[in-house]
Amino acid sequence: MRACFPKESVMTRIVLACLALFAAASVAAVELTDTQRDAISERIRPVGESCMDGDASCGAPSAAAAGGAARSGEDVYNAACLACHTTGAGGAPMLGDAAAWADRIAKGTDALHDSGLNGVAGTAMMAKGGCVNCSEEEITAAVDFMIERSQ
Ligand code: HEC
Repeated sequence: MRACFPKESVMTRIVLACLALFAAASVAAVELTDTQRDAISERIRPVGESCMDGDASCGAPSAAAAGGAARSGEDVYNAACLACHTTGAGGAPMLGDAAAWADRIAKGTDALHDSGLNGVAGTAMMAKGGCVNCSEEEITAAVDFMIERSQ
């Protein structure tokens, strides 16, 4: 039991040490310049919000959402669908695999657009393939691109 509940004096020392560290950290923070603070918040931004240099697929909302031109089906595919549809991850039908696509294409373009927009329940195919900043127009263009390359 002793191991689980250290003596009070030990706890007190730990708490004091933490408080001292905390105080030191706050003092240090006050001495930072605005530039340093900006640099730090930039570095500690959550990964999901960071956008690597040259990666046009993340960060800002899509051009279409911002009122600009929609991205082409191929661009959207490369940005949001390729991860699964080029590797077959999670059982995704692969781009260019005519056999895997034949039955799906037979369902009709509307059905496939619907799967692209709303996902396939119970599978890794999420609504919009998980691309929250893709417009509906961009998703249907990506589906058209996939159909075109897979027959
Ligand atoms: C996380 C992996 C993943 C991503 C990313 C993904 N898909 Fe899929 N997709 C799947 C899987 C798995 C299936 C097969 C689902 C099934 O069993 O019918 C699928 C199936 C499809 C189908 C066929 C559905 C049908 O009704 O037969 C279409 C169309 C499709 N995806 C479009 C897209 C588009 C467009 C994107 C990108 C915007 C995308 N997917 C991104 C995993 C993914």
